[in-house]
Amino acid sequence: LGPDCIDIGKLYKETGHFTYDPGFVATASTKSAITYIDGDQGILLYRGYPIEQLAQHSTFLEVAYLLMNGELPTQGQLESFEHEVTHHTMMHESLKYFFRGFHYDAHPMAMLCGAVASLSAFYHDDLDINDPDQRRLSAIRMIAKMPTIAAAAYRYSIGWPFRYPRNNLEYCTRFLHMMFEVPSEPLQLSPVAAKALDLLFILHADHEQNASTSTVRLVGSTGANPYASVAAGIAALWGPAHGGANEAVLKMLAEIGDVKNVGKAVERAKDRNSGFRLMGFGHRVYKNFDPRATIIREMTHKVLADLNISDPLLDIALELEQAALKDPYFIERKLYPNVDFYSGIIYKALRIPTEMFTVMFAIARTAGWVSHWLEQHETPDAKIGRPRQVYTGAARRDYVPLAKR
Ligand code: ACO
Repeated sequence: LGPDCIDIGKLYKETGHFTYDPGFVATASTKSAITYIDGDQGILLYRGYPIEQLAQHSTFLEVAYLLMNGELPTQGQLESFEHEVTHHTMMHESLKYFFRGFHYDAHPMAMLCGAVASLSAFYHDDLDINDPDQRRLSAIRMIAKMPTIAAAAYRYSIGWPFRYPRNNLEYCTRFLHMMFEVPSEPLQLSPVAAKALDLLFILHADHEQNASTSTVRLVGSTGANPYASVAAGIAALWGPAHGGANEAVLKMLAEIGDVKNVGKAVERAKDRNSGFRLMGFGHRVYKNFDPRATIIREMTHKVLADLNISDPLLDIALELEQAALKDPYFIERKLYPNVDFYSGIIYKALRIPTEMFTVMFAIARTAGWVSHWLEQHETPDAKIGRPRQVYTGAARRDYVPLAKR
């Protein structure tokens, strides 16, 4: 298992002792060959390939193939994977009626979560999780349909008609068209926008046993179908301590409002009684720079320059980063910017509305979720996830009839 890892399961069988580890700070719930993180060194590898190299040379769909299959595809394999994904981009017409049941101002994450769970009601004919072909098909379907459902959630929330996916376009361009195209005026898209989105999707595609991926695996461990398992992951991702942080970062930067208020914000974040944290700072595993944040920071400058946008929120973010990196509170606790600190500024530059930021994250993370779900089902004698607890309630006592209480 490695020099710093004890097999507690084995120890439990021998001694009956189990561990108390709230938040699973020191507990590996599974073995996995998908993603490697060294939090002290700030290293992230997908199937052994450094995130920096994938960010520079790869595409989101190639990365999705890599995560699912373990190896980079050949030209032919990539083309056939892209073809398969493109073939499954449509959402069932009846899903439109499902959407119409949502309140007009529902959060797009609420709609995404509900719509993805509902896919199990549309594709129940091939939900045999013991059949590797059906497992793979459901994984491809989710990678393919997630942008269509996400765009539909956005368009529904602003009262626009749904757009069909234009399958002659590549993955990210197709998504931007579904989001923003209106019938009267063809959308003029900068190639920078689709490229930036593709890069953000690569960086968010997987991150080993984070809260949402662990949720997918926990639900998957019961034998639940893949759509229900991924819908549970979407629900976990929504929280501001996880994927919801990118939305929270932008709100925080807007509230700070001016670089001159950065010092006050840092002081407030250090006061535990304030209930305020620097959103986009800190990470359970990284105790060094999150390598994804370094790539995104560089890209933020490039995207804003290419799109000719000057955003005061970027100045506030840069000032905040500098102030925190010099502050003993953040230094001692090893709190560095994480992947979400700069991603919101790029999404904003791409005209993606703030409440869609976590939805963007979900589209990308689907590649990781389905890869973990597939890996889990390829593992012989995988166990149901069932944590223990330390009971703190009342000792045994006898029932008191209502009249005597
Ligand atoms: N601002 C101020 N103080 C912080 C922050 C922060 N962002 N993050 C952690 N701390 C402090 C805590 O108050 C605690 O201080 P203490 O030792 O005096 O008690 C110490 O640092 C350790 O924090 P924990 O909450 O114990 O660390 P944990 O590993 O449980 O939490 C988390 C990690 C949830 C990411 C946390 O750093 C946080 O809330 N960050 C802000 C939200 C965020 O950006 N989330 C996105 C994470 S990345 C992702 O999911 C894609």
